[in-house]
Amino acid sequence: MNLRHFITLNDLTADELRAIIHRAIELKAMRENSELYQPLKNKVLAMVFEKSSTRTRISFDAGMTQLGGSTIFLSPRDTQLGRGEPIEDSARVISRMVDGIMLRTNKHETVETFAKHSKVPVINGLTDRFHPCQLLADLQTWFEQRGDIKGKKVCWIGDGNNMCQSYMNAAKLLGFKLSIACPVGYEPESDLLSATYDHVTLCHDPLLAAKDADLVVTDVWASMGQEQEQKDRCASFAKFQVDTRIMQSAKDDALFMHCLPAHRGEEVSADVLDGPQSVVWDEAENRLHAQKALLEFLMQ
Ligand code: CP
Ligand code: NVA
Repeated sequence: MNLRHFITLNDLTADELRAIIHRAIELKAMRENSELYQPLKNKVLAMVFEKSSTRTRISFDAGMTQLGGSTIFLSPRDTQLGRGEPIEDSARVISRMVDGIMLRTNKHETVETFAKHSKVPVINGLTDRFHPCQLLADLQTWFEQRGDIKGKKVCWIGDGNNMCQSYMNAAKLLGFKLSIACPVGYEPESDLLSATYDHVTLCHDPLLAAKDADLVVTDVWASMGQEQEQKDRCASFAKFQVDTRIMQSAKDDALFMHCLPAHRGEEVSADVLDGPQSVVWDEAENRLHAQKALLEFLMQ
Protein backbone atom coordinates (compact mmCIF):
# COMPACT_ATOMS: atom_id res chain seq x y z
CA MET A 1 0.00 0.00 0.00
CA ASN A 2 1.22 3.53 -0.74
CA LEU A 3 2.19 5.72 2.19
CA ARG A 4 -0.90 7.47 3.55
CA HIS A 5 -1.10 10.43 5.91
CA PHE A 6 -4.02 11.91 7.85
CA ILE A 7 -3.47 15.66 7.80
CA THR A 8 -7.07 16.63 7.10
CA LEU A 9 -10.24 14.63 6.48
CA ASN A 10 -9.65 15.22 2.77
CA ASP A 11 -6.89 12.61 2.92
CA LEU A 12 -9.70 10.04 3.01
CA THR A 13 -12.40 9.24 0.49
CA ALA A 14 -15.97 9.30 1.78
CA ASP A 15 -16.03 5.48 1.61
CA GLU A 16 -12.81 5.22 3.61
CA LEU A 17 -14.11 7.65 6.21
CA ARG A 18 -17.35 5.70 6.60
CA ALA A 19 -15.34 2.43 6.83
CA ILE A 20 -13.15 3.88 9.61
CA ILE A 21 -16.22 5.04 11.54
CA HIS A 22 -17.87 1.61 11.29
CA ARG A 23 -14.60 -0.09 12.22
CA ALA A 24 -14.33 2.19 15.27
CA ILE A 25 -17.76 0.99 16.40
CA GLU A 26 -16.60 -2.64 15.97
CA LEU A 27 -13.35 -2.04 17.87
CA LYS A 28 -15.34 -0.45 20.69
CA ALA A 29 -17.54 -3.56 20.96
CA MET A 30 -14.45 -5.79 20.89
CA ARG A 31 -12.94 -3.85 23.78
CA GLU A 32 -16.22 -4.03 25.70
CA ASN A 33 -16.05 -7.84 25.25
CA SER A 34 -12.42 -7.84 26.49
CA GLU A 35 -11.26 -9.31 23.16
CA LEU A 36 -7.49 -9.19 22.71
CA TYR A 37 -6.66 -7.74 19.27
CA GLN A 38 -3.05 -6.78 18.60
CA PRO A 39 -2.43 -6.13 14.91
CA LEU A 40 0.22 -3.47 15.68
CA LYS A 41 2.51 -5.67 17.79
CA ASN A 42 6.01 -4.15 17.98
CA LYS A 43 4.91 -1.02 16.12
CA VAL A 44 5.85 2.34 17.61
CA LEU A 45 3.99 5.64 17.32
CA ALA A 46 5.94 8.82 18.08
CA MET A 47 3.78 11.62 19.47
CA VAL A 48 4.98 15.21 19.16
CA PHE A 49 3.11 17.75 21.28
CA GLU A 50 3.81 21.46 20.92
CA LYS A 51 0.60 22.18 22.87
CA SER A 52 -1.17 20.64 25.86
CA SER A 53 -3.48 17.66 25.60
CA THR A 54 -5.46 15.29 27.76
CA ARG A 55 -7.73 13.34 25.38
CA THR A 56 -5.44 13.16 22.36
CA ARG A 57 -2.42 12.03 24.31
CA ILE A 58 -4.23 9.43 26.40
CA SER A 59 -6.31 8.03 23.55
CA PHE A 60 -3.33 7.55 21.22
CA ASP A 61 -1.23 6.11 24.04
CA ALA A 62 -3.91 3.71 25.30
CA GLY A 63 -4.97 2.89 21.74
CA MET A 64 -1.49 1.88 20.62
CA THR A 65 -1.01 -0.25 23.75
CA GLN A 66 -4.34 -1.97 23.21
CA LEU A 67 -3.40 -2.72 19.58
CA GLY A 68 -0.15 -4.33 20.77
CA GLY A 69 2.21 -1.43 20.04
CA SER A 70 3.72 1.42 22.01
CA THR A 71 4.25 5.17 21.94
CA ILE A 72 7.01 7.68 22.54
CA PHE A 73 5.97 11.09 23.87
CA LEU A 74 8.09 13.93 22.48
CA SER A 75 7.87 17.51 23.66
CA PRO A 76 9.84 20.32 21.99
CA ARG A 77 11.04 21.27 25.46
CA ASP A 78 13.24 18.22 25.84
CA THR A 79 14.06 17.23 22.27
CA GLN A 80 16.05 19.01 19.56
CA LEU A 81 12.69 20.01 18.03
CA GLY A 82 12.61 22.95 20.42
CA ARG A 83 16.20 23.94 19.70
CA GLY A 84 15.81 24.74 16.03
CA GLU A 85 16.58 21.42 14.31
CA PRO A 86 14.75 21.78 10.98
CA ILE A 87 11.35 20.05 10.76
CA GLU A 88 12.53 18.35 7.57
CA ASP A 89 15.53 16.77 9.31
CA SER A 90 13.49 15.76 12.36
CA ALA A 91 10.94 14.10 10.09
CA ARG A 92 13.63 12.18 8.20
CA VAL A 93 15.28 10.96 11.40
CA ILE A 94 12.24 10.14 13.52
CA SER A 95 10.46 8.38 10.65
CA ARG A 96 13.41 6.02 10.18
CA MET A 97 12.94 4.71 13.71
CA VAL A 98 9.19 4.46 14.25
CA ASP A 99 6.12 3.23 12.34
CA GLY A 100 3.89 6.28 12.64
CA ILE A 101 4.04 9.86 13.90
CA MET A 102 1.29 11.93 15.47
CA LEU A 103 1.84 15.67 15.81
CA ARG A 104 -0.02 18.45 17.60
CA THR A 105 1.53 21.69 16.39
CA ASN A 106 0.87 25.41 16.44
CA LYS A 107 1.17 25.86 12.69
CA HIS A 108 -0.61 23.60 10.25
CA GLU A 109 2.33 23.87 7.84
CA THR A 110 4.56 22.12 10.38
CA VAL A 111 2.52 18.92 10.06
CA GLU A 112 2.43 19.28 6.26
CA THR A 113 6.21 19.73 6.08
CA PHE A 114 6.74 16.85 8.46
CA ALA A 115 4.58 14.57 6.29
CA LYS A 116 6.45 15.55 3.14
CA HIS A 117 9.70 14.26 4.62
CA SER A 118 8.40 11.27 6.57
CA LYS A 119 8.75 7.63 5.51
CA VAL A 120 5.84 6.60 7.75
CA PRO A 121 2.23 7.77 8.16
CA VAL A 122 1.79 11.18 9.79
CA ILE A 123 -1.36 12.01 11.76
CA ASN A 124 -2.57 15.51 12.58
CA GLY A 125 -3.43 15.58 16.28
CA LEU A 126 -4.59 19.25 16.02
CA THR A 127 -3.16 22.32 14.39
CA ASP A 128 -4.31 25.94 14.29
CA ARG A 129 -6.39 25.07 11.18
CA PHE A 130 -7.74 21.54 11.60
CA HIS A 131 -8.50 18.82 14.16
CA PRO A 132 -9.50 15.84 12.01
CA CYS A 133 -9.05 13.15 14.72
CA GLN A 134 -11.78 14.85 16.76
CA LEU A 135 -14.11 14.63 13.77
CA LEU A 136 -13.60 10.86 13.60
CA ALA A 137 -14.85 10.63 17.19
CA ASP A 138 -17.71 13.09 16.65
CA LEU A 139 -18.87 11.22 13.56
CA GLN A 140 -18.60 7.86 15.31
CA THR A 141 -20.75 9.25 18.11
CA TRP A 142 -23.36 10.48 15.64
CA PHE A 143 -23.38 7.17 13.71
CA GLU A 144 -23.80 5.19 16.97
CA GLN A 145 -26.73 7.30 18.09
CA ARG A 146 -28.50 8.07 14.84
CA GLY A 147 -26.99 6.22 11.85
CA ASP A 148 -25.53 7.93 8.78
CA ILE A 149 -25.22 11.71 8.82
CA LYS A 150 -25.87 12.27 5.10
CA GLY A 151 -28.62 14.85 4.58
CA LYS A 152 -28.73 15.92 8.25
CA LYS A 153 -28.38 19.49 9.47
CA VAL A 154 -25.44 20.23 11.76
CA CYS A 155 -25.14 23.63 13.41
CA TRP A 156 -21.80 25.08 14.45
CA ILE A 157 -21.96 27.98 16.90
CA GLY A 158 -18.91 30.03 17.85
CA ASP A 159 -15.43 30.49 16.50
CA GLY A 160 -14.59 29.62 12.89
CA ASN A 161 -11.64 27.67 14.27
CA ASN A 162 -9.85 24.35 13.68
CA MET A 163 -12.92 22.37 14.79
CA CYS A 164 -15.33 24.42 12.69
CA GLN A 165 -13.09 24.01 9.65
CA SER A 166 -12.89 20.26 10.20
CA TYR A 167 -16.70 20.14 10.27
CA MET A 168 -16.70 21.99 6.94
CA ASN A 169 -14.55 19.26 5.38
CA ALA A 170 -16.75 16.57 6.93
CA ALA A 171 -19.92 18.19 5.58
CA LYS A 172 -18.58 18.11 2.05
CA LEU A 173 -17.25 14.56 2.32
CA LEU A 174 -20.28 12.96 3.95
CA GLY A 175 -22.99 15.15 2.43
CA PHE A 176 -24.53 16.90 5.42
CA LYS A 177 -25.56 20.55 5.75
CA LEU A 178 -23.46 22.68 8.05
CA SER A 179 -24.95 25.91 9.29
CA ILE A 180 -22.35 28.13 10.95
CA ALA A 181 -23.06 31.10 13.22
CA CYS A 182 -20.07 33.10 14.38
CA PRO A 183 -19.42 36.69 15.43
CA VAL A 184 -18.30 39.12 12.73
CA GLY A 185 -14.53 38.84 12.39
CA TYR A 186 -14.36 35.21 13.56
CA GLU A 187 -15.43 33.46 10.34
CA PRO A 188 -13.63 30.41 8.97
CA GLU A 189 -11.15 30.84 6.08
CA SER A 190 -12.75 32.20 2.92
CA ASP A 191 -11.03 29.64 0.66
CA LEU A 192 -12.56 26.86 2.68
CA LEU A 193 -15.96 28.52 2.50
CA SER A 194 -15.63 28.63 -1.29
CA ALA A 195 -14.53 24.99 -1.45
CA THR A 196 -17.47 23.80 0.66
CA TYR A 197 -20.17 26.29 -0.38
CA ASP A 198 -22.53 23.50 -1.54
CA HIS A 199 -22.79 22.19 2.01
CA VAL A 200 -22.01 25.14 4.27
CA THR A 201 -23.91 28.32 5.14
CA LEU A 202 -22.58 31.12 7.28
CA CYS A 203 -24.52 33.69 9.34
CA HIS A 204 -24.13 35.73 12.51
CA ASP A 205 -27.37 34.68 14.20
CA PRO A 206 -27.07 31.59 16.42
CA LEU A 207 -30.83 31.06 16.80
CA LEU A 208 -31.28 31.08 13.05
CA ALA A 209 -28.35 28.75 12.47
CA ALA A 210 -29.68 26.28 15.05
CA LYS A 211 -33.19 26.18 13.61
CA ASP A 212 -34.26 22.56 13.08
CA ALA A 213 -30.69 21.31 13.47
CA ASP A 214 -30.10 17.62 14.18
CA LEU A 215 -26.80 18.30 15.91
CA VAL A 216 -25.50 21.41 17.67
CA VAL A 217 -21.74 21.76 18.16
CA THR A 218 -19.55 24.37 19.76
CA ASP A 219 -16.00 24.82 21.07
CA VAL A 220 -14.04 27.22 23.25
CA TRP A 221 -14.01 30.90 22.31
CA ALA A 222 -10.24 31.19 22.67
CA SER A 223 -8.22 28.24 21.39
CA MET A 224 -4.77 27.22 22.60
CA GLY A 225 -2.37 29.98 21.65
CA GLN A 226 -5.08 32.68 21.83
CA GLU A 227 -5.11 33.02 25.61
CA GLN A 228 -4.19 36.70 25.42
CA GLU A 229 -7.36 37.36 23.33
CA GLN A 230 -9.63 35.69 25.91
CA LYS A 231 -11.10 38.94 27.29
CA ASP A 232 -11.87 40.50 23.91
CA ARG A 233 -13.28 37.25 22.65
CA CYS A 234 -15.60 36.87 25.65
CA ALA A 235 -17.11 40.24 24.73
CA SER A 236 -17.45 39.41 21.01
CA PHE A 237 -18.90 35.95 21.63
CA ALA A 238 -21.31 36.87 24.45
CA LYS A 239 -24.41 36.19 22.32
CA PHE A 240 -23.03 32.89 21.06
CA GLN A 241 -23.42 30.71 24.13
CA VAL A 242 -25.16 27.40 23.43
CA ASP A 243 -27.94 27.46 26.02
CA THR A 244 -31.44 25.99 26.29
CA ARG A 245 -32.84 28.70 23.99
CA ILE A 246 -30.49 27.58 21.22
CA MET A 247 -31.25 23.91 21.86
CA GLN A 248 -34.97 24.68 21.69
CA SER A 249 -34.48 26.18 18.23
CA ALA A 250 -32.93 22.86 17.11
CA LYS A 251 -34.98 19.69 16.62
CA ASP A 252 -36.48 18.12 19.76
CA ASP A 253 -34.16 15.13 19.49
CA ALA A 254 -31.07 17.17 18.55
CA LEU A 255 -27.76 16.11 20.07
CA PHE A 256 -25.13 18.42 21.54
CA MET A 257 -21.38 17.89 21.07
CA HIS A 258 -18.23 19.67 22.25
CA CYS A 259 -14.69 18.41 21.72
CA LEU A 260 -13.72 19.43 25.30
CA PRO A 261 -12.23 20.93 27.35
CA ALA A 262 -15.37 23.05 27.88
CA HIS A 263 -15.97 26.26 29.80
CA ARG A 264 -19.38 26.07 31.43
CA GLY A 265 -20.99 29.51 31.41
CA GLU A 266 -18.97 30.68 28.38
CA GLU A 267 -19.49 28.85 25.07
CA VAL A 268 -22.00 26.44 26.64
CA SER A 269 -24.32 26.67 29.61
CA ALA A 270 -23.89 24.03 32.31
CA ASP A 271 -27.44 22.74 31.83
CA VAL A 272 -26.78 21.98 28.14
CA LEU A 273 -23.34 20.45 28.64
CA ASP A 274 -24.58 18.26 31.50
CA GLY A 275 -28.09 17.84 30.09
CA PRO A 276 -29.86 14.93 28.37
CA GLN A 277 -29.07 15.99 24.80
CA SER A 278 -25.33 16.17 25.44
CA VAL A 279 -23.22 13.21 24.27
CA VAL A 280 -19.86 14.76 25.14
CA TRP A 281 -18.61 11.89 27.33
CA ASP A 282 -19.24 9.27 24.61
CA GLU A 283 -17.69 11.70 22.16
CA ALA A 284 -14.55 11.93 24.32
CA GLU A 285 -14.37 8.16 24.80
CA ASN A 286 -14.73 7.62 21.08
CA ARG A 287 -11.41 9.37 20.49
CA LEU A 288 -9.90 6.07 21.63
CA HIS A 289 -11.92 3.81 19.34
CA ALA A 290 -11.89 6.08 16.29
CA GLN A 291 -8.13 6.56 16.45
CA LYS A 292 -7.56 2.82 16.86
CA ALA A 293 -9.48 2.37 13.62
CA LEU A 294 -7.34 5.08 12.03
CA LEU A 295 -4.08 3.54 13.31
CA GLU A 296 -5.12 0.16 11.98
CA PHE A 297 -5.99 1.73 8.60
CA LEU A 298 -2.70 3.65 8.30
CA MET A 299 -0.18 1.39 10.03
CA GLN A 300 -1.17 -2.23 9.61
N1 CP B 1 -10.51 17.39 22.30
C1 CP B 1 -9.17 17.33 22.44
O1 CP B 1 -8.41 17.25 21.47
O2 CP B 1 -8.75 17.32 23.73
P1 CP B 1 -7.25 17.46 24.26
O3 CP B 1 -6.79 18.85 23.95
O4 CP B 1 -7.35 17.16 25.71
O5 CP B 1 -6.40 16.44 23.53
N1 NVA C 1 -10.18 24.78 19.29
C1 NVA C 1 -9.54 24.18 20.43
C2 NVA C 1 -9.71 22.70 20.43
C3 NVA C 1 -9.11 21.97 21.61
C4 NVA C 1 -9.25 20.50 21.54
C5 NVA C 1 -8.07 24.57 20.45
O1 NVA C 1 -7.43 24.56 19.39
O2 NVA C 1 -7.55 24.87 21.52
